[in-house]
Amino acid sequence: MSTARFADDPHRPRYHFLPPANWINDPNGPIELNGEYHLFYQHNPGAACWGNMHWGHAVSRDLVRWEHLPPALAPTPGGPDKDGVFSGCAHNVAGTPMLFYTGVNPEAQCVALADARMRGFRKFEGNPVIAAAPPEIQGRAWTGFRDPFAWKEADGWYALIGSGIEGTGGTALLYRSKDFRTWEYLHPLCIGNPHETGTMWECPLFFDMGERKHLLAVSPYARPEYFLGAYAEQRFSPERQGLLDFGHSYYAPTGFIDAKGRRIVWGWLKERRNADAQNAAGWSGCLSLPRELSLHPDGRLRVRPVSEVEHLRGRHRHLDARDISPGTLHRLEGIQGAQLEIEAEFEILHSAAVGLAVRLADAGTESTEILYRSDNKELYVNCERSSADPNSAGGLDVGPFALAKGEPLRLRVFVDHSAIEVYANERACISSRVYPTQRDCIHVALLARGGAAKLVSLDAWDLAKT
Ligand code: FRU
Repeated sequence: MSTARFADDPHRPRYHFLPPANWINDPNGPIELNGEYHLFYQHNPGAACWGNMHWGHAVSRDLVRWEHLPPALAPTPGGPDKDGVFSGCAHNVAGTPMLFYTGVNPEAQCVALADARMRGFRKFEGNPVIAAAPPEIQGRAWTGFRDPFAWKEADGWYALIGSGIEGTGGTALLYRSKDFRTWEYLHPLCIGNPHETGTMWECPLFFDMGERKHLLAVSPYARPEYFLGAYAEQRFSPERQGLLDFGHSYYAPTGFIDAKGRRIVWGWLKERRNADAQNAAGWSGCLSLPRELSLHPDGRLRVRPVSEVEHLRGRHRHLDARDISPGTLHRLEGIQGAQLEIEAEFEILHSAAVGLAVRLADAGTESTEILYRSDNKELYVNCERSSADPNSAGGLDVGPFALAKGEPLRLRVFVDHSAIEVYANERACISSRVYPTQRDCIHVALLARGGAAKLVSLDAWDLAKT
């Protein structure tokens, strides 16, 4: 389908992944096969709102330029997925690529088999492969049963299914299989604190991170949480916990380990404007950039865009060191655009807050501020003044972030029309969505508050449309 009708849309992202038209939510089943990356996603092919869930499908050789293929899975009338093909994963099972997903009403796990090139799909005649959740425990019902995430260990396949125990906490149910078709229930992998991480965990993700640590990420109807900890005897003991992204737009991340051993994850970047605006636009949602997760030497989670994102870089501009006096915006005359990457290093000096404004209007009336607050040790994207349109919710995306003494602030900012991604020192991320009403919201500025800061250097690139 041609995307030409969106050519003048000021809000549609140009290098973030999204379908040719209509609705996208969760990324599903990323996999590398025969030198190609395949990405699937929750898709309504007929409207820019959630419903009639299919698995959309695209293929790429470099993780950033995608070719759209026809949807891989659609609901089968009368089948266990008649009311929707929900989220899941993909694996190469003894030479046969297989998709593992949830059919709904009731929630049951199903598989589909693909041809070797992953262009044709056939649902398994024995579906559902897991017809229902295990019997309730302690007399308490499960809060859900969906979004299988599988991996291989020495003795066979394992899978987590997103769930929770009413009144007790979110969980992921652990299963085991030899052939990916017959699954045996083991037990909850771990159970969360309901006051912190809710009572339903959607879209579990589980990676061996090396260094004897595993990462569990879950989407608890709120910003996705991750846990780093030890996995032994099929039980997981969280040791550290955090938010994968501080943005209220980021949800349902999933990922895979590629042939180079990289743990690569995408999340869904939800819209923040109302349903009417999404329908009128003819599209809704996009995915984050592919992010590589690894561990810093100190054991903290390291997050950065995969290096292939640099393939998008076009015209480059560089700024040398300069002081940033507090109180006013220092507009960067040579750097403008709605489709940019900015890499900037700051020394905090005496400032209480330092950072950048992007999507800044000529007259300063609309602006999105990206700030590190050294006074309260937080990283912010402030969208309160991003748009004059009352139907485009603003809001503040904020989370805990502290610099060590003398450590510079290193921001990497991706601006892609309505999609904004911020990475700070490869250990914190914020995804936001902004909808400026003025076409001249292309300016970039430096800012400091409460005392002077210093820009050490700044590089900016125009990024190509994909
Ligand atoms: C998460 C989610 C999943 C479900 C899918 C349906 O956003 O609710 O739990 O499988 O979306 O589209």
